[in-house]
Amino acid sequence: MSLIRSVMTGVGAYLPPVVVTNDDLAKVVDTSDAWIVERTGIRERRRAGPEQATSDLAVEAASAALADAGKTAADVDLIIVATTTPDLTFPAVAAIVQRKLGCPIGIAFDVQAVCSGFVYAMAVADGFVSRGQAKCALVIGADCMTRLLDFGDRTTCVLFGDGAGAVVLVPGEGRGDATDRGLLGFALRCDGTKQDLLYVDGGPSTTGGVGHLRMQGQQVFRHAVVNITEAVHAAVKASGIEIGDVDWFVPHQANSRILAGVAHRLGIDEARVITTVSRHANTSAASIPLALAEGIADGRVKRGDMVLMEAMGGGLTWGACAIRF
Ligand code: UT7
Repeated sequence: MSLIRSVMTGVGAYLPPVVVTNDDLAKVVDTSDAWIVERTGIRERRRAGPEQATSDLAVEAASAALADAGKTAADVDLIIVATTTPDLTFPAVAAIVQRKLGCPIGIAFDVQAVCSGFVYAMAVADGFVSRGQAKCALVIGADCMTRLLDFGDRTTCVLFGDGAGAVVLVPGEGRGDATDRGLLGFALRCDGTKQDLLYVDGGPSTTGGVGHLRMQGQQVFRHAVVNITEAVHAAVKASGIEIGDVDWFVPHQANSRILAGVAHRLGIDEARVITTVSRHANTSAASIPLALAEGIADGRVKRGDMVLMEAMGGGLTWGACAIRF
């Protein structure tokens, strides 16, 4: 049975130029390079300049993705930005990106699923593309997480960085089986009862302010390793593939120990895992497309490869999706 698939024809990434090393952080908070590297694998992260908003990072990544796909802003009819750090409470970052890129009137909105945002946004975009409602979709993960950090809290302020990644999805006719190029399947999850494990303590309808990120790291860690595995198995099943078919595992980059733990539980060889956490830290919704862009740029991920993505974040939300590149 033929089927319209959401085919990824372009990928782009952007990292702000300012590098913040662990030693830089050790000057402002009671921590050390040795502790951060041992417990997280993070060595450095990027920080957006004071003049840069999330939409600025998103526009850079989106422009690169459009160029990679051989498209222009004029082609774009759907923009979804996964973000937790919008420029303003409203309008959506997607609307600002549409204006800054000069895209025509179309569909544009944000998805808020924190670090799982990119996986959620891919699934949402697939609904539009596969139903013929979008011919050229930009799916962007962009966050300035450093703006949410309490630099007096060493348990969280060392973990996050800023960045953006974007992909272009276009409709492509497939046979309806796992040989098709495009998004093959996904699984999304949320457990709102776990809010207190990871949240920001402010917002427009409560404090009227932005707030700071709060996390019970150990509990989030345990939840991540156990529950991501279930969602990955569900996404793999929905895609009609086996774990053994996965060429590249592109997980959300929160902690190298989580990445290794999940890959081990899934039986995925660590050589098949694309990791950027040592240089990017946790860039929330941006981390998967940033890692994917790196894997493509350095020649590891090739056309036709099976790519498995997964993430977990505040909500708690988590999910996974499989896409043949
Ligand atoms: O994007 C999804 C959301 N985030 C995550 O997935 C993160 C999940 N959690 C984690 O990655 C880890 O739990 C952390 C990296 C946050 C913490 O690692 P841990 O191995 O779970 O450490 P811990 O919280 O058990 O803390 C161990 C010790 C504590 O000291 P005591 O009580 O043993 O004396 C902490 O106070 O390490 C101390 N500590 C630090 N020491 C130096 C905590 N943060 C720091 C720090 N520098 N930055």
